[in-house]
Amino acid sequence: MDKEPSFNSQVKNIYHLLMVLFLLFIISGGSLIYYANNPEAFSFKKETSNLVAVSLEEDSDRIENGIHIRTGLIEAEGLMTVVNNCTNCHSAKLVTQNRMDADGWNTTIKWMQETQNLWDLGGNHEIIVNYLVTNYPPVKKGRRMILTNVEWYELEE
Ligand code: HEC
Repeated sequence: MDKEPSFNSQVKNIYHLLMVLFLLFIISGGSLIYYANNPEAFSFKKETSNLVAVSLEEDSDRIENGIHIRTGLIEAEGLMTVVNNCTNCHSAKLVTQNRMDADGWNTTIKWMQETQNLWDLGGNHEIIVNYLVTNYPPVKKGRRMILTNVEWYELEE
């Protein structure tokens, strides 16, 4: 009569132990599966950098009041072709500060192709020159407007 209860309690202990192990197994297995599906769930650092990058990218081709903000180029037909081909090597300012007729722009582009490794623009050449001539034509005005309404006076000797 001495052995029986001890054997029983041993079985009980083993049974408890197995239950605990089984529960641990379920819990850790469950969290592993959960982690595999939500890798961020256990990282306590809040990752905001992704959000910033996305919004910057969205903003990079923003146009306000007819101006492409990132480059300062005028919004018009062919804008993105010019942005993609003419702002890689130098600032778009070099484009917007120059005003030329078609000959002038063609010569500039040819010069860059011959001396500055500008690539062959193919079908984009016409789109680009059209955009440039339309939006950045030569300024017709002289260095100052011709004076009008001047009251001339005679010089007296
Ligand atoms: C492969 C590089 C490259 C690309 C792409 C490029 N350029 Fe240039 N461009 C240059 C270099 C280099 C200069 C000289 C910069 C300097 O003088 O500081 C230049 C100068 C210029 C100038 C000033 C020329 C002058 O007489 O001072 C204009 C205007 C210009 N580029 C317009 C354009 C336009 C329009 C496009 C698109 C078709 C374009 N660039 C694309 C390299 C490039």
